[in-house]
Amino acid sequence: MSTPIFIRNASQLVTLQGSSNAPLVKGAMSELGIIENGSIWIENGVIQAVGKDSELVEKYKGRLNEADVVDACGKLVTPGLVDPHTHIVFAGSRENEFNMRLQGATYMEIMNSGGGIHATTRATKAATHEELFNESYERLNKFLLHGVTTVEAKSGYGMEWETELKQLEVAKELNEKHVIDLVPTFMGAHAIPKEFKECPDKFVDLLINEMIPKVAELGLAEFNDVFCEHGVFTPEQSKRILEAGKRYGLIPKIHADEIEPYEGAELAAKVGAISADHLLKASEKGMKAMAENGVVGVLLPGTAYFLMAESANGRKMIDLGVPVALSTDCNPGSSPTVSLPFIMSLGCLKMGMTPAEVITAATINAAHAINRGKEIGSLEVGKKADITIFNVPNYMKLQYSYGVNHTETVVKNGQVVVR
Ligand code: NIG
Ligand code: FE
Repeated sequence: MSTPIFIRNASQLVTLQGSSNAPLVKGAMSELGIIENGSIWIENGVIQAVGKDSELVEKYKGRLNEADVVDACGKLVTPGLVDPHTHIVFAGSRENEFNMRLQGATYMEIMNSGGGIHATTRATKAATHEELFNESYERLNKFLLHGVTTVEAKSGYGMEWETELKQLEVAKELNEKHVIDLVPTFMGAHAIPKEFKECPDKFVDLLINEMIPKVAELGLAEFNDVFCEHGVFTPEQSKRILEAGKRYGLIPKIHADEIEPYEGAELAAKVGAISADHLLKASEKGMKAMAENGVVGVLLPGTAYFLMAESANGRKMIDLGVPVALSTDCNPGSSPTVSLPFIMSLGCLKMGMTPAEVITAATINAAHAINRGKEIGSLEVGKKADITIFNVPNYMKLQYSYGVNHTETVVKNGQVVVR
């Protein structure tokens, strides 16, 4: 039996109750289920009770002295933040490209001349398993300090079997050894390796006939992602890759309509993807198709900010009924950050989302985008005790006071891991 944890008296306790079965859409994204003077009783890693402090004190009155009491008076308590889209397992960094872009080079020009994703692929190939593990572990520490308790992690800096395998094995070991939970995605279809430049379909065949079956057989990923973009994978190639993954039990995800409109959102709906991500240039038709099929739109305003592009139209997507989630896209080229709270501020300032909507987008909707809505993302009896306490009195101030890390306490799996 573990020592119970009693988080007491939050000025606002965001429960998001009743959201475990499906992501929230439209007006429901603003229903945070706030309890004022709220408290939570945690035992054995699981939330046992949620309610007004006075109710919980009454319920547990015979056991109060057993508990580790965390005073949340005057503070905001939310579900642990969930980041549903990262490329966290990588080696090296690309500040040189940042400097080139500031002088006018574009992201795609840099990639097409052998830098970009290819540069990180070279560094990741050269790194040992241990080096890759250590670098990524450090990044996870920083995520945790920003209130994030679950992170999706993609491969894709190998695009040949050995390095893809190394990345997925590192992700597996990180999941075992770091308190943050990692949810793995295979993204062998991240770029066309230069050996296949003249015959990209051969690379698609290799992904479909060799890599995807092996990833599935080894149980190293839950999702299969593809960079569907002009000059990378076409919608037809992307469809083949995603359908092949489905045959092996890998759930489709897609980097869609990031740089040019390419009917990626439409494709996500057609293949039954759990999420379509980026969507800066998504068409209205594609957004509607996503809404009809319950495809989560994972929006990455930090990437738009860092690439100096216009953000996705989050407001329009929510109004059309797309369940929207938010993510850092943490990667060395287009979004080298771990600050999901900063991304939440960008959600308000650059995508027309309300402070309430961004809370939903970075918790329960993010959990649904990685098929974890039943376990995490809301504070309800029976759910995993992943909880963040921010040193702000209300949820609006979290976004308002931007670029500041307000994270004070993090509870992961029912243990206080940051205090
Ligand atoms: O989500 N768009 C493609 N992939 C990543 C960037 C990867 C990189 O530049 O290293 C993204 O933005
Ligand atoms: Fe990405």
